Amino acid sequence: MPIRNFNEKTLTAEVLARLHATSDPRLKQVMTSFVKHLHAFVREVRPTPEEWFRGIEFLTETGKWCDDKRQEYILLSDTIGVSMLVDFINYGDTKNATESTVLGPFFVEGAPELPMGETIAKPGTPGEPCTMRGSLKDTKGKPVANAVIDVWQGAGDGFYDVQKQEGMNLRARFRTGADGKFWFRCVRPVSYPVPNDGPVGKMLVATGRHPMRPGHLHFKFTAPGCATLVTHLFVKGDKYLDSDAVFGVKNSLVVNFRKAKSGEYQANYDFVLLPEKRTRPARKRR
Ligand code: BEZ
Ligand code: FE
Repeated sequence: MPIRNFNEKTLTAEVLARLHATSDPRLKQVMTSFVKHLHAFVREVRPTPEEWFRGIEFLTETGKWCDDKRQEYILLSDTIGVSMLVDFINYGDTKNATESTVLGPFFVEGAPELPMGETIAKPGTPGEPCTMRGSLKDTKGKPVANAVIDVWQGAGDGFYDVQKQEGMNLRARFRTGADGKFWFRCVRPVSYPVPNDGPVGKMLVATGRHPMRPGHLHFKFTAPGCATLVTHLFVKGDKYLDSDAVFGVKNSLVVNFRKAKSGEYQANYDFVLLPEKRTRPARKRR
């Protein structure tokens, strides 16, 4: 059969056939699925050439907004629910352990390690003072010692340190002792918009969506023998809990940040970590 003269019906099969020499089986699977679904999308939408080019321009602009401080593609993945879909596929089955949610774009490696009980807010940081307490256990109820807890959050004005070009603020690492307990001071989390001055912001406006996330505090737990957990705690009563711009809210992660008589906010949460996944040794190729 001559490999030419394709039409709308026969083209997809030929593109798929040309993947036959892909040596990496996972890449072959991914490319096959990608081509199939993209062709099906184009058949369904039936774009004009101008519309197709507009799509290419959107992706080009998204790339131009990316640098070491801004990742517009992650933001796109977050706002169209793909980041949470990947999270559900990989970490959906938590059984009795704490649920995960999106990492987001504001995690920074190398935050300062502080002694337990310290504040993560530099003097003058906007926001209402808050104390966060909790514990870390494994699924058998044993306290997790020597765990590294990364915490990070936006200030009371709704901005993260990296958005204000200031030094590190409102982020730190703590290390648990034998009792697995932790406590530190921070500011009460407030709702804030995801960065919306770029192409993703335009997409949100064009689709009639708001850019807001409910107030939350980010956590990443790394501990010997345990699976790493990336999650948030959300503020109970926040008006954006049911319309988070990145679909990250889970009921089990919504917490009461209550105001104490001292005027300070307080919250408590006991986290449970899954055991580390054992990776099987790769099978020998025949
Ligand atoms: C955040 O939690 O800070 C965040 C998450 C996803 C997209 C944008 C911001
Ligand atoms: Fe955040």
